[in-house]
Amino acid sequence: MRRVVLAGRGELGEWRDAARALAAAGIVPDEIDWREKSAEADLSFQRDAMPPAPAASRKPMTVPPAFIELAETVLCHSDPARFALLYRLLWRLQLDRQLLEVTSDQDVVRARLMAKNVHRDAHKMTAFVRFKEVGAISAGRRKFIAWFEPDHHIIRRTAPFFQRRFTDMDWLIATPKGSAAWDGERLTISDEPCEKPNLTDVTDELWRTYYASIFNPARVKLKAMQAEMPKKYWKNLPEADLIPGLIASAESKVREMAAREATRSLPFHDRLQQAARNLPTEPEAPAGTLEALRAQASVCTRCPLHANATQTVFGEGPRDAAVMFVGEQPGDQEDIAGRPFVGPAGRLFDQVMAEAGIDRSMVYVTNSVKHFKYEPRGKRRIHQKPTMGEVKHCRWWLDLELALVEPKLIVAMGATALAALTDVKGRLQDVRGKAMAIEGGRTLFVTVHPSYLLRIPDERLKAEEMARFRQDMSEIQVLMTSAG
Ligand code: URA
Repeated sequence: MRRVVLAGRGELGEWRDAARALAAAGIVPDEIDWREKSAEADLSFQRDAMPPAPAASRKPMTVPPAFIELAETVLCHSDPARFALLYRLLWRLQLDRQLLEVTSDQDVVRARLMAKNVHRDAHKMTAFVRFKEVGAISAGRRKFIAWFEPDHHIIRRTAPFFQRRFTDMDWLIATPKGSAAWDGERLTISDEPCEKPNLTDVTDELWRTYYASIFNPARVKLKAMQAEMPKKYWKNLPEADLIPGLIASAESKVREMAAREATRSLPFHDRLQQAARNLPTEPEAPAGTLEALRAQASVCTRCPLHANATQTVFGEGPRDAAVMFVGEQPGDQEDIAGRPFVGPAGRLFDQVMAEAGIDRSMVYVTNSVKHFKYEPRGKRRIHQKPTMGEVKHCRWWLDLELALVEPKLIVAMGATALAALTDVKGRLQDVRGKAMAIEGGRTLFVTVHPSYLLRIPDERLKAEEMARFRQDMSEIQVLMTSAG
């Protein structure tokens, strides 16, 4: 019997190297005693375990890609039997390439079950990690720590999810099975077990308020709720102690809800609708004018975005403007006012334009998408980026505006406008600040979107980017002058 000891922290490479060497030496599954390092004090076994280099004549074992995928997941399971199970499957796959499709095979069933448990554990981790803020902000970045107790070795699998989701903060997720840390540049994974830190912060209260406000007493299904949020995770969830009380009061809350009046729409909706109803019926604008186009666009239902927006926000400016500025989509304030670039981004845009000597009333300002896309959060409406499909769909209106205004110079502000106006696939930074000749004898100038500047947390970077935006605007002013 050979004893093979592995660290077993969910890494395919470690098991694969051992399995390859054992298989190449013809060691059958029953001859190997696989162990996990954490359960094994004396590692000297490991040194004796590996077979001598394989005889050159032995054919290397091969496996279908589905096995690699399965093995990658199964190796994250915490059951020490996983190594032997995978080796047995590896061995058996040499005789039966379709083995993984035999859904009644005991080894296959076990491996698939382990994979399922790992997926579930990883899913729960993405749902139940609760970050707590710690320490001071450094280099404009806030710092967070979270504690989580996974059943399996899933840190490596889930860390990229957190890196994508929480890219603009520094964080550490500590677990008894290792940790993952992100500092804005590097993702560091460690297998060193962590101890539970003593953490509570103000975000606990926020979580509790949030949870209590989204808890819908009319939809309480206890079994489904516990399947989704098993009790073992409760101890690390700041909102968990609210659950029993919320459940207990669910019935009376439902009765209260039923007795209450229907929810009313937000006041600005009513005001706008009222204003629209009182509007004198305007004479139809002559065809081929911007007014006619605006009137057509005001009832646009070409895509679902119209359904949640207050109104169409069409472009504005003189019909014979030599320059057209194109943004992304109206924001919250533009949606209410019915005019482009009047909110915070619009104010910055106006200010930098004025500094560069550009008179806004002389240019045409519009957006790639004419309806505000957002996600409601309580009373707030959070901007959502339009999809490429929505941008291409709305190009219908942008094309009509371009055909009527016929600007000599078009300024794309941000990546969405760039994608709406060209087929340029690369990064905005590669074409930013450059005047490019495009079809119809026009010039396209690309710069950043003013909202981007408003979002930069780092003061130094913000100042640099503002200076570049001012420089872009000055170049636009020069191009404008020569465009007449
Ligand atoms: N952002 C845009 O792209 N357009 C607006 O009109 C306002 C903000």
